[in-house]
Amino acid sequence: MTDTAPSGLMPFYAMDILKRAKALEEQGRSICHLELGEPGQPPAPRVIEAVARALPQPQGYTNAKGMIELREGLARYYQEQHGIAVDPELVLATMGSSAGFILAFHTAFKPGARIAITRPGYPAYVNTLLGLGFGIAEIPLRGANGWRLTGEAIAVAHARQAFDGLLFASPANPTGAAVDREQLADIVATCARLGVTLISDEIYHGLDYRGASVSALELTRDAIVINSFSKYYCMTGWRIGWMVLPEALIRRAEILQQNLFISAPTLSQIAATAALKERDYAEEQKASYAVNRQLLATGLREIGFELPVTGDGAFYAYAGISRFSNDSMSFCEAMLAEAGVAATPGIDFDRTDGAGFVRFSYAGTRASVEEALERLRRFTRAGG
Ligand SMILES: Cc1ncc(COP(=O)(O)O)c(C=O)c1O
Repeated sequence: MTDTAPSGLMPFYAMDILKRAKALEEQGRSICHLELGEPGQPPAPRVIEAVARALPQPQGYTNAKGMIELREGLARYYQEQHGIAVDPELVLATMGSSAGFILAFHTAFKPGARIAITRPGYPAYVNTLLGLGFGIAEIPLRGANGWRLTGEAIAVAHARQAFDGLLFASPANPTGAAVDREQLADIVATCARLGVTLISDEIYHGLDYRGASVSALELTRDAIVINSFSKYYCMTGWRIGWMVLPEALIRRAEILQQNLFISAPTLSQIAATAALKERDYAEEQKASYAVNRQLLATGLREIGFELPVTGDGAFYAYAGISRFSNDSMSFCEAMLAEAGVAATPGIDFDRTDGAGFVRFSYAGTRASVEEALERLRRFTRAGG
């Protein structure tokens, strides 16, 4: 069932579920899409207007680091949201955070270096690292601890098998777990003590329901920070994100960008520059995710899914399915075929224990979450 390639690369099962869901829709079935980690809404109207204005002009490559207007906008973002000064020269616009990972790994590490990641975690971390010839060390997280990474867990994993880097996201995919300032300071200090380079994936910043997101840049300038316009600004397909690098690494990252990608897409950089000024629109989307978050958590618990904590941020619920199944892939297949609810099997995020979990995304509409819960009630009553 899990077709692991010899290299350790695995498919992204969410995409397989999506393909099946689309095929069912083509046959006329109605499907509730809770498998996708992307907002259902378009970017803010002013973002589209800015791109429409720019479209008739020639769109050449930009500076490899990105347009200065965008990098200055991002420096303002750090000042306004985090109260810190960031030099635009240390900012590099990327083709989504996905390209940021490639640049970060090759900038900070030599081939063969080992990078720690959390389990569960975003599947592309493992696949990108293995695909690029790096090693991985997994740090297991526990639902009872809110799925939060701690300095202690990092130290225990490092003592078991040393690693050179740590890549982690807060808020996280698939759990929504976010660390607060004190917990992040513990992680930063532990990495510094162990000589581990920290890569902080801050893609879900802004989508934190318990308080302001804390950037690693508030605590250290030795970390590589990766962020994106995909989630908070509703721009997944625009493929635009950014990195902030330590001074010692920026030139190497710039050279890699010149050669690997030349520059991030120009129209998307124009869109991103406009999006930074549209936080009111992004906050409206967040308010609807916040409603969905509560509805889904309450509904899933009533139905019998295990949700020890309601995720702090992002737009995911990572639910235990032990009442219904011990095979998340077959469970998701049956849930799709019989109930018309698409969700992602936990094996995407955790190759060891993921068979016991399913990730539900609540980035869609309230109506789709309500309808999915109703269908899940009937599906589980009928025996799952
Ligand atoms: C934790 C995390 N990081 C990075 C990404 C990739 O985002 P993008 O390349 O669109 O910026 C995702 C997408 O789901 C994610 O969940």
